[in-house]
Amino acid sequence: MQLIDGKAVAEQVKQEIAAEVAQMTAQGKRAPHLAAILVGHDGGSETYVANKIKACAVCGFKSSLIRFEETVSEAELLAAIDRLNRDDEVDGFIVQLPLPKHIDEQKIVEAIDYRKDVDGFHPVNVGRACIGLPSFLSATPAGILELLRRYKIETAGKHVVIIGRSNIVGKPLANLLMRKDYPGNATVTVVHSYSTDIKEQCLSADIIVCALGRPHFLKEDMVKPGATVIDVGTTRVPSTQTKSGFKLTGDVDFDAVAPKCAYITPVPGGVGPMTIVSLMKNTLLAGAKAIY
Ligand code: GUN
Repeated sequence: MQLIDGKAVAEQVKQEIAAEVAQMTAQGKRAPHLAAILVGHDGGSETYVANKIKACAVCGFKSSLIRFEETVSEAELLAAIDRLNRDDEVDGFIVQLPLPKHIDEQKIVEAIDYRKDVDGFHPVNVGRACIGLPSFLSATPAGILELLRRYKIETAGKHVVIIGRSNIVGKPLANLLMRKDYPGNATVTVVHSYSTDIKEQCLSADIIVCALGRPHFLKEDMVKPGATVIDVGTTRVPSTQTKSGFKLTGDVDFDAVAPKCAYITPVPGGVGPMTIVSLMKNTLLAGAKAIY
């Protein structure tokens, strides 16, 4: 069994990005600039955004954080998005989700200029990715592809089972793994809460991607010997062992599943660090005007 070290790969990719930024600035170009809008004080969102800002510093990017209280109106948020859309000094920006209930998330996502949508959530980017056109790829699927690439895991003709059909992981990942490229050319099955044969599908899978958000869902008796298991789960569960009072738990019963696998990602330190790196890659592309 080989552990897929997402943390180490992420550090390496950030160094590669930093080297490209150094080249850009040596040529007199300005460094890429990522802005983030954060609404409210949700603990998870605070941590994610802080980590994104930190990653920008490592990559040599400029970053800006725009904060609003939980009570911000949709109109105020849309006005902030409009300003960022028009700001030539901002290459890409994100609005950290989830948003308070009184705000229509889809409306917010669609208000972002798709040419600055480094999250890859705008329907233009989702649609272009789906038919294989250059676009900003959604961070988690892009991070998973990068891990498969760096560990040279074969996908052509392999059976990939994705557990979970979310718009930001399951659906876009299924599309990417079907494309005529590497990593891709896979036979992809997506299973979800209405599927009646999840165990059977998983047992025939060469690669299982678990993205349903239920701790320890994937058990040892659901995995074929020699399979690759990618764990996207990051449920915060209470813990007395950590300073923060919680720990991140994956969707895979890691201790029981790992001995059966060819490759497996841990939680934390697997897919998680790669999602931030994907955002950095998109920001680099946005700064270089490489896609639009
Ligand atoms: N909330 C959880 N993950 C993400 C993400 O990748 N982007 C944004 N904008 N919000 C999130």
